[in-house]
Amino acid sequence: MYLIIGGDSIIGSALSAFWEEKKISYCASTRRSEQVNQKRPYIDLASLIWPQLETGQYDAVVFCAAATKLADCEEYPETTRAINVEATVALARFMALRGSYLLFLSTNQVFDGTKPHRKVSDKICPINEYGRQKADAERLFRQESRSAVLRLSKVIYPDLPLLRHWESRLQKGQSIEAYTDMYLAPISLEKVVKRIDQLLQNKEPGIFHISGEEDVSYYSFAKSYFSDIPNADKLIQKSTFSKTALLSMKFPRYTSLQ
Ligand SMILES: NC(=O)c1ccc[n+]([C@@H]2O[C@H](COP(=O)([O-])OP(=O)(O)OC[C@H]3O[C@@H](n4cnc5c(N)ncnc54)[C@H](OP(=O)(O)O)[C@@H]3O)[C@@H](O)[C@H]2O)c1
Repeated sequence: MYLIIGGDSIIGSALSAFWEEKKISYCASTRRSEQVNQKRPYIDLASLIWPQLETGQYDAVVFCAAATKLADCEEYPETTRAINVEATVALARFMALRGSYLLFLSTNQVFDGTKPHRKVSDKICPINEYGRQKADAERLFRQESRSAVLRLSKVIYPDLPLLRHWESRLQKGQSIEAYTDMYLAPISLEKVVKRIDQLLQNKEPGIFHISGEEDVSYYSFAKSYFSDIPNADKLIQKSTFSKTALLSMKFPRYTSLQ
């Protein structure tokens, strides 16, 4: 039996659907009280007790729950660290003591973005609070012998709110603006789900990367992603991140992983 911590996350939901179809037995935690049942144990990382996990036996656990908004981590470093590092690692230790293999989902943001195609052997060097929190949690996870870290670049799926918003405007013939100076190395949600499933099956310890092959600007990405929409080419306009209010936050130039 597998356990997803954070079953309502994008990745956790897609993984649940994948295992449902393959008839693989799993539980997926939730912090939404109306969703709780035997298959959906209640876990709120803001509290450090997990009574519903006392009895369950899980071969492997994947950690999807997190404060995932970079701006929130920057603005509320203490409260987000309590979730992303302290509670996550405490829960990991709790599950390790019960014999589970642990998989922690991390990010390219543990690197500073000065180089593309970062390797698993590269030294981590985060430049923002989200990256620092993920880097600290990684280090603590790796103290457990049956644990792995999977670092992901930007995960793309058709319902991604930004893509839905852009698509809806483009379909109506309205223009959109996309950054020419912010980059992503897009990886599909489907590939991420399959990789997580494979790691849990093999229970390999270590650090792993999954990433799109190249860094592209949001502008180039939008142009290629929406190339089938009539006139998209003209409707997608350039804008620059460096002129926005979020400038105080540091984003890595390169995001790709090898
Ligand atoms: N998506 C990406 O592009 C990407 C890239 C790199 C790494 N990652 C990492 O992959 C993991 C999954 O990402 P995702 O995009 O699927 O996440 P997501 O959709 O942003 O969901 C995050 C989940 O964490 C849950 N959560 C937040 N605070 C919690 C708390 N105190 N207790 C329990 N649950 C809490 C949320 O619960 P509610 O639904 O109840 O709010 C939500 O379901 C994260 O660790 C993320 O850092 C994602």
